[in-house]
Amino acid sequence: MRFISPTIDEFRVARFPKRKIAGLIAAAALFGAGLASSADAAATPAPQAYGTAIAAVSPAESAMASAPPSATSFATPSATPLPTVESTTEPSAGPTGSPGSSASPAPAVFPVTNHAPLPKCGTSETPTLVAGYDDWALTLVDTDFTVGQSYVPPDLQNVGGGGFYYGTMVRAVAVADLRAMGDAARGAGAPLSIFSSYRDYHTQIWTFNYWVNMLGPQAAALSSARPGHSEHQLGVAIDFKSSGGPDPWSTKNWARDTAAGQWMAANAWRYGFVMSYPAGKTAVTCYGFEPWHYRYVGRAEAAAIHNSGLTVREWIWLHLPEQSPRERTPAHDPRTQAI
Ligand code: DAL
Ligand code: ZN
Repeated sequence: MRFISPTIDEFRVARFPKRKIAGLIAAAALFGAGLASSADAAATPAPQAYGTAIAAVSPAESAMASAPPSATSFATPSATPLPTVESTTEPSAGPTGSPGSSASPAPAVFPVTNHAPLPKCGTSETPTLVAGYDDWALTLVDTDFTVGQSYVPPDLQNVGGGGFYYGTMVRAVAVADLRAMGDAARGAGAPLSIFSSYRDYHTQIWTFNYWVNMLGPQAAALSSARPGHSEHQLGVAIDFKSSGGPDPWSTKNWARDTAAGQWMAANAWRYGFVMSYPAGKTAVTCYGFEPWHYRYVGRAEAAAIHNSGLTVREWIWLHLPEQSPRERTPAHDPRTQAI
C-alpha cells in the first residue's frame, strides 16, 4: 500500500542524500551497458491502467497512440493563460555570472537504480521520493507524486536572462542552455517564445481550476496537473510557442505544423530539454499530448532520454532509489531518515 501524505502541510520533501548523488555520478562511468539493457526492459512496460480521475484513454489519445510523435493531430490545452512573453530579436546580455547562472550543474547520466515497475497513474498525494533543490533532474511529479505546497526553487530567474522577453521565471540551472536553444532556433528560422514557465503552488491551483471549468474534470485531469504535481512548480518546465504565433494548443499539432514546434521536437534535447508528454504515451506519462511542454533535465540526461525512446517519467523512475514506494512507510524509509 502506498504511503499517502495526511496533509500537504505535513509534507516533508525527501532529500536525496548528497553522498548518494555523488555515488551515482561516480558510478556513471560504469553505466553504458546497464543503460541499454534497462532501457530495453522499460521500453516494454507492464500494462498500465488509470486511477479514478483518469479512468480511460480519450478517443483522440487512442487514435494517436500508433502515430509517431510528430505526426499526430491531437493537442490538449494545458498552461495557464498568462500573458505571452516573446523571444527577443536582440538577445539580452549573457548570464550575469551570479551564482548558478553561468553554467548548468546538470549531472552526468545517472545509473539505473530502480527496478520496480512503473506505477500506474493514480490520483494520490504521495510525497515524491527525491525533492532536494539540488536534485531537480531526478524530482518526479505526476498524478500521484507531489512536491507539496512549500516547494519553491531557490534560484528562480527571469527568462530574460535566457534571451527571452522578461515575464516568467525559470531556475538558474536552465538559463544558459535556454539561451543557447533560443539563439539556435532563431538562427534556424524557427524563433521561439515562452508562454509559461515557473508556476508556484497557488498559481497552479488557479490554473487547474481554470481548466476544470473549461474542460470538465476528466479532460482537465489529462491536461493540467493538480497543485503540487506540476513540473512547472519545479521551475524547470517551459511551455513554448512560436514567436509571434498563437497559443500552441490552438495549432492542431504544434510539433508538426509549425517551424518552431518542428525545430523543438528535433533539437530541444541537444540543449537539455525534453518533451515531457509526447503523443501516444498517456499510459506512462499520465497526461495527453503536449508538444509545447518541455522539461529541462540537462544535456547529458536529455541526450540519454532521447536515445532511450523513454518518456521523462519512465526515465526518472528508473533512476530513483531502488526501494519501491509501494513497499515503504515513512517510519522505514531510509531516505526520510537521511534528511
Ligand atoms: N500541463 C501539465 C501537465 C501541467 O499542468 O503541469
Ligand atoms: Zn506546461
